Amino acid sequence: MDAVDSSAPQPLTLATTGPLSGRVTVPGDKSISHRSLMLGALAVGETVITGLLEGEDVLATAAAMRAMGAIIERREARWHVHGVGVGGLLQPGQALDMGNSGTSTRLLMGLIASHPITATFVGDASLSKRPMGRVIDPLSLMGASFTASPGGRLPLTMQGRCPAVPLRYTLPVASAQVKSAVLLAGLNTPGQTVVVEPVATRDHSERMLQGFGAALNVEQAPEGRIITLMGEAELRPQTITVPGDPSSAAFPMVAALIVPGSDIMIENVGMNPTRAGLVTVLQAMGGDITVMNPRSVGGEPVADLRVRHSVLTGIDLPGDDAAAMIDEYPVLFVAAACAQGSSQLRGLEELRVKESDRIAVMAAGLAACGVPCKELADGITITGSGGDPLPGGATIAAHLDHRIAMSFAVLGLNARAPVTIDDSRPIATSFPTFVAMMQALGAESQA
Ligand code: S3P
Repeated sequence: MDAVDSSAPQPLTLATTGPLSGRVTVPGDKSISHRSLMLGALAVGETVITGLLEGEDVLATAAAMRAMGAIIERREARWHVHGVGVGGLLQPGQALDMGNSGTSTRLLMGLIASHPITATFVGDASLSKRPMGRVIDPLSLMGASFTASPGGRLPLTMQGRCPAVPLRYTLPVASAQVKSAVLLAGLNTPGQTVVVEPVATRDHSERMLQGFGAALNVEQAPEGRIITLMGEAELRPQTITVPGDPSSAAFPMVAALIVPGSDIMIENVGMNPTRAGLVTVLQAMGGDITVMNPRSVGGEPVADLRVRHSVLTGIDLPGDDAAAMIDEYPVLFVAAACAQGSSQLRGLEELRVKESDRIAVMAAGLAACGVPCKELADGITITGSGGDPLPGGATIAAHLDHRIAMSFAVLGLNARAPVTIDDSRPIATSFPTFVAMMQALGAESQA
């Protein structure tokens, strides 16, 4: 047998000859997994994590925390983190390779900003195009200094400041990564660090910082959510169970809605209100999604979702609630492509600076699959098929973007001619078991 060349693109085509059915779970939440490792690495003592997402992005965070002194081990199904204490991070011996992961990069820049550390960040071609100015700006105000590539991009080298200067910062862009970077910098900064977010974004950092014992207060004011963190915090180690990632659940959810006759159960899905926007939107489009067995796992709301094939209707979304489903838009575009009538989805400028320009890349891919659509500066209009199979018959350039790859793999399940993803390797950044899970539901992989 020939050895598999892992450096070669791995095309993927999913197809199905019948309905999707069965019960599946999705891997642990990516945002919570990153934060579990980072906060565990700053607590004195042992944090134990169950359900950690073992995707490449999270493993990049683990490697970086190890390079800065934390001991992180996987034993059986659990991850054990021995932290160094707030202020105790060590100078890494070499550049921190962030791979494809914007979350690792931006949150770690925050952590390092208030430590006496010089660190260089490098990443893959996708990450090296993404803007870091949004974290460089507030972290510079706190005293860190940066030498970035043109346009405020990677590779970049930063020098933290200790003690850093506490900051009151109003987010100019709805970004949980920027919010978290400033709060993480605030952990080792004397006094109060305050972040004002005019638009609420995912609140895992706030919940978890409180869970680890930091003095963090959230207040709702006319100007937005005001988050106040008392610095020079001491974090206590925790036992954490990571819920299933709603952003990963989005793919089987839309797949079941668009494949005739499907009836599936997705278990243990995170339902944090700052993340669960897609469920509400798909239900408003006529999607038959039943939220079952709601419960709390590790301080986060969780439920099982029963999803049945549905006749969807197009929807207009101005983007007011975009933050609560920002990563789910690519697969929502696929649902819209299969709906009756047209959809207009706006207010999505942020999609242009994700792992790829998701508006442009989705518009190009949808057009190649025969879906009438029009790219807008801040979104897209899509004319749906009314549920009929889409023409398909295209090879999609995924542009190193896991969610583009998975979205078009799902679209191919309701297409007349096969849809092939040029390279499925990026899927391993967030959902290494995606193909196996889709096969368990009845899809065939023609890779
Ligand atoms: C994330 C925040 C979001 C999201 C990303 C993960 C996080 O990015 O798109 O996948 O874990 O904080 P922004 O905060 O840049 O919108």
